[in-house]
Amino acid sequence: MTRHFLDLSSAGADGVAAILADALDRKAARTDLPKGQPDADAPLAGRVLAMVFEKSSTRTRVSFDMAMRQLGGSALVLDAGTSQLGRGETVADTARVLSGFCDAIMVRTDDHAKLEEMAAFATVPVINGLTDVSHPCQIVADLQTVIESGKALPGLKMAWLGDGNNVLHSIVEAAGLFKFSVAAGVPAGYDPEERWIERSNALLAGSNARVTVERDPLRAVDGADVVVTDTWISMGQAHAEAKLAAMMPYQVTEALMAAAKPDAIFLHCLPAHREEEVVTAVIDGPQSHIWNEAENRLHAQKAILRWCFGQIG
Ligand code: CP
Ligand code: NVA
Repeated sequence: MTRHFLDLSSAGADGVAAILADALDRKAARTDLPKGQPDADAPLAGRVLAMVFEKSSTRTRVSFDMAMRQLGGSALVLDAGTSQLGRGETVADTARVLSGFCDAIMVRTDDHAKLEEMAAFATVPVINGLTDVSHPCQIVADLQTVIESGKALPGLKMAWLGDGNNVLHSIVEAAGLFKFSVAAGVPAGYDPEERWIERSNALLAGSNARVTVERDPLRAVDGADVVVTDTWISMGQAHAEAKLAAMMPYQVTEALMAAAKPDAIFLHCLPAHREEEVVTAVIDGPQSHIWNEAENRLHAQKAILRWCFGQIG
């Protein structure tokens, strides 16, 4: 069976745990090696990853490219605007063609249904590099960063502040798999999709962990081990003054961080909009782990790729 990584549930709790363990191990094993030097075992030697982008990217694009290099393989990019996809060639036909050329396909798209269509017609692994609905690769890197900060995932409280978006959906999904709580501080009208919360809370039944939506940002961060935010306007969304105004009480300030646990860490998937979703004093402050979080995209991608090729998990 072809292993697609469309969401965290594609790998399940055991699969994601194996991915995290591999990411941590390989990161530790190659400290101080030049970035472009392959790992000694080059486990994906000869493999090529096609990366399809319908939206902009810095981290996802570079981390997948470098991941393939470090695993001994290579990657190529197809931008929708400069490939036949942008002129109306179907996702299904593109999937069949790319499967003949490449060993795996990563997709960043506006429409989650296109990712699913790519997976339905590809005969090689397909990876979700962000859709309008979810961003599972980001959350693997986030979980790795939380673990590296010395915190265990089960029983943790993660506070989300801002928009109920794709990144939050994947955090909620992770909570169900790893038995931690998420308090989503979100203004009315911007809630995450209910199905993600329901599914995780079903998995959390019988544990002390729970996913909740809070209107009061102070309640959301109260006792939190991790405070997370993201842009208020995601790619593909219209810039709306009304939305920015609704989000303002959920801006991550020093006062909100002070209401979390004293050793709470701050995460942001980036790119950030300083003085919008987070103030500079927090994102550049001592509790911020954003640079390690960004670097971990590389280590997480490597492990996700290895999982897709059946090498772990
Ligand atoms: N966090 C993230 O996915 O960044 P990019 O949009 O730069 O890939
Ligand atoms: N929610 C953001 C994440 C960017 C990495 C977006 O979809 O634009």
